[in-house]
Amino acid sequence: MAKLLEGSTPSVTGRPRVLLAAPVSDDLATTIKEKCDVVASEADIGTQEQFEHILQSVDGVVTTVKWQIPGALVRKCTSLQVISNVAVGTDHIDVSTATRCGVLVCNTPGVLDGAVADLTFLFILALARRFRQNDLHVRGGNWMHESAPFGTDVTGKKLGLLGFGRIGAAVAARAIAFDMHVLYCRPGGASEKQIADCATHVNREQLLRESDFVSVHYPLTPMNIGSISTEEFYLMKESAYFINTARGGIVDEPALVDALQRGRIAGAGLDVMEREPIPPDHPLCSLNDVVLTPHIGSATTETRRAMMELAVNNLLSGLADERPPASVNADAIGC
Ligand code: GLV
Repeated sequence: MAKLLEGSTPSVTGRPRVLLAAPVSDDLATTIKEKCDVVASEADIGTQEQFEHILQSVDGVVTTVKWQIPGALVRKCTSLQVISNVAVGTDHIDVSTATRCGVLVCNTPGVLDGAVADLTFLFILALARRFRQNDLHVRGGNWMHESAPFGTDVTGKKLGLLGFGRIGAAVAARAIAFDMHVLYCRPGGASEKQIADCATHVNREQLLRESDFVSVHYPLTPMNIGSISTEEFYLMKESAYFINTARGGIVDEPALVDALQRGRIAGAGLDVMEREPIPPDHPLCSLNDVVLTPHIGSATTETRRAMMELAVNNLLSGLADERPPASVNADAIGC
C-alpha cells in the first residue's frame, strides 16, 4: 500500500488519502473507500484554488480536464503519488514534472474511441446535410416548399484524418462504412493496420488540399499549440469542412474564425475550444455554418462508466505500487 514520499505527513489511519475531483459513482466510491480515506469529493471543490489546496494533502486524486495540474502545483504536492485522470488527454497536467517528482499519471485510453468517433461522424453528417440550418428553417415556420437548405453527399467524398491513432482509426471505420475515401497523414499503430489498408497515406499538404472533411485526432502537446492555422485553412478547399473533437489548443482559433468569415472553408464542427467554456459572445457562436458542442466527445453513460472504472483501477493499482492498466509515465518512473 501507499509508500509515503519524503516530506509528507502520514494519514492518521495509515491508508492513502484520496481526493475525488471527478463525478465518481457511489459504488465506485465505495470500492475506493475500502482501501483509502476519501478526504474530499467533487461537491467539496468549487474553485481551482480549493482543488490545489486539497491536492497538497492527498496521496492520490481522481481528476478531469476541468482541473489544471501545472508543474508548480505538482512540486508542492509532496505526498501525491497518483494522478488518475478521467480522460485520455493529459495536456492539463504537467506530465514531465510529475515524472521527475515520481508521480504516476494515469489516463483512460481505448474505452472512449467509439464515442468520440461517433461524435466526429455526427459533425460530418450534420455539416454535410446542413442539419442546423434545416432545424432553424423548421423552427422559423418553414417547410421544404420554402427552399429548405440543401446539403451535400458524404458518399464518395474524401475525409482527411490529421492523426491516425485509436480514435482516428474508429472514425475511419465509420467513414469507410459510408463509402467515403479516407486519407491520413500520420502512421497508426499495429492495431490500426486493418483500417490503414483501407485508407490512403498522404502528406499533410495533400491531405489538406484534397479532403472534403478534415478532422483532427492527435493530442495537444507544447509542440503543436496552434499548429492548424491560416496556412492550413488556406490549403483547404473552399467547400471543405473542419472538425475538431481533440483539443481546442491545437487550432489557431482566430485563424479559424477568419477562414470561416472569409468563406475560405465551408464550415466547422467543434467540440473543443481554445478556452473552455467558450463565451457566448465568441465569434464562433454567431457563425451560421458552425456546429458547436460542449466538449462531450466521451459523454455517453456507457463510455463515462467505462472511463471511471478504468480511472479507479488506475488509482488503486498505483497506490498499491502495482503497474496500473493505463498510465502515460509508468515506464519513465519505473512502475
Ligand atoms: C477528453 O477530452 C479526453 O481527453 O478523454
